[in-house]
Amino acid sequence: MARALLLAGLAWARAAAGLTSAGDPEPVPLRRGTSSTPMVRLDREFFTHADVPIYPHPKHGDTGVQRLLERERRRAPTQSAVPIYPHAVETHRLWILELVSNATDKEAQVLCQEVEICETSYPNSGELPFVVVRLTLEELKALLDRYPVLVKFAEEDVFETMNLEFIDADESPLERRTYPWGIQSINADLSRGRGVGVNVYVLDTGIRTTHASFGGRAFAGVDVATTGSFTHCAPSSTTCAADRHGHGTHVAGTVGASTYGVADGATLWAMKVIDDLGFGYVKWSLLAEQWVLSSGARPAVVSMSVVSIGSSMAEKDSIDRLVEDGVTVVVAAGNQNTDACDYNPAWIPSAITVASYGGPAGSSPAKSSFSNYGSCIDVWAPGSSILSTYHLSDTSLGTSSGTSMACPHVSGLVAIMYEAYPSAGSMNASQRWSLLTATSRSGWVTEIPQSPHSVNLVAEAIPLAPSPTTSLTPSLTPAPTTSMTPSPTPSPTPSPQPRRSTCRHRRRHR
Ligand SMILES: *[C@@H]1O[C@H](CO)[C@@H](O)[C@H](O)[C@H]1NC(C)=O
Ligand SMILES: *[C@@H]1O[C@H](CO)[C@@H](O)[C@H](O)[C@H]1NC(C)=O
Repeated sequence: MARALLLAGLAWARAAAGLTSAGDPEPVPLRRGTSSTPMVRLDREFFTHADVPIYPHPKHGDTGVQRLLERERRRAPTQSAVPIYPHAVETHRLWILELVSNATDKEAQVLCQEVEICETSYPNSGELPFVVVRLTLEELKALLDRYPVLVKFAEEDVFETMNLEFIDADESPLERRTYPWGIQSINADLSRGRGVGVNVYVLDTGIRTTHASFGGRAFAGVDVATTGSFTHCAPSSTTCAADRHGHGTHVAGTVGASTYGVADGATLWAMKVIDDLGFGYVKWSLLAEQWVLSSGARPAVVSMSVVSIGSSMAEKDSIDRLVEDGVTVVVAAGNQNTDACDYNPAWIPSAITVASYGGPAGSSPAKSSFSNYGSCIDVWAPGSSILSTYHLSDTSLGTSSGTSMACPHVSGLVAIMYEAYPSAGSMNASQRWSLLTATSRSGWVTEIPQSPHSVNLVAEAIPLAPSPTTSLTPSLTPAPTTSMTPSPTPSPTPSPQPRRSTCRHRRRHR
């Protein structure tokens, strides 16, 4: 395997993205490594009211959103607060109102008290300040008229499919004699027992934490999807953030199960933001992400095999805060064989977006036929025919194909990176990216569509013996015995204590 040393100084140039409608909230940074062409598409359409951008959800389809936009644009010149279509039936929609960054807890509560259905987060704890309200568009506008300075933007949230892959139960016994092809393809079979002390937060359908291959390193973290309201789990709970779908357990296994996972020393946290049928809201992910920001143990990786249509501005701000705080966020590119920039959170520049290779049956360097591609891709990883842990029993396995399977390979590599470089948590994102990709090969994946252009980069596990050309010496200790039979490694002491002492109360105003 050809290896390329990639220590490029990665510029995060900022440039205003071209928008068709007025009220650009802020310029958007260009993609990593693309210094000349503005690659980011910020095409979630919006209109403004009281100078606050309002983003309807693209789920309503082109015609639904277009009708709404046209209606609002036609209304705009008259500056009239009177609806042009007074008889149109207005539906109640769920709106995420992101508040200005200096908004206080009290201001959020005052706003919330005006609305019958409103949930607040607590902005004072350092989290992204937002409230979630259920209102018709006209009711929302009336609210914005009263709080025009407090609200940064309003974004519609819908209960929608996260496009989860189907998983085939695999009959092979847990004691396999060889590592799965994906583990070998990124040299993770040569670097076992890694990621010790690193916390990987798996935002998915939950995790069967008792699976034998997790060796006691998997814990319940946060559950938003089971009841729809935020629950901080007891780490040893087997019901909170439990996986009754299978996707989350499969993904977590690829991050860090023994034999089937990349970083089989890492601590895995179940963050249930998708329900057992594969649906969720953006607000569920926001709550879990912001909990990691204020209360999650470090060093931390957020692994998100979650894909929905469109682009959430609130989720961009949420992930940006995590990345600025030393957390690496790894996301799936999506399985639509199209431009990943059209999907959330794949489009978000500060996240590492992972596309899939492996050809039709795995172990090939060809792009997986389903994988999204394009300028929002940062790295490629194995995603076809991936064998990993399954949720049916503590010894069951399953095979699946998707960018959801590629994403956790990279999350595991990031965990190895944080263990190898203890100072990585205080570095900026471009420095961490340089460390992650110092061991990588470029130009290796085949059958990537020409347009829109994608990078062609595969990250590999940091080898035990540091490369002499790498300026920063990794602090890797020799691996514990590399055993081909899954031997549950003794669990590192979990660190469920919050990093900062924050007293968390989430309140629902009804
Ligand atoms: C937040 O900043 C805005 C603009 O700078 C200012 O008008 C407002 O008073 C500030 N709010 C608080 C609570 O400090
Ligand atoms: C990241 O940190 C390095 C070293 O301090 C600095 O040279 C670089 O400009 C920083 N990059 C960004 C995007 O802040």
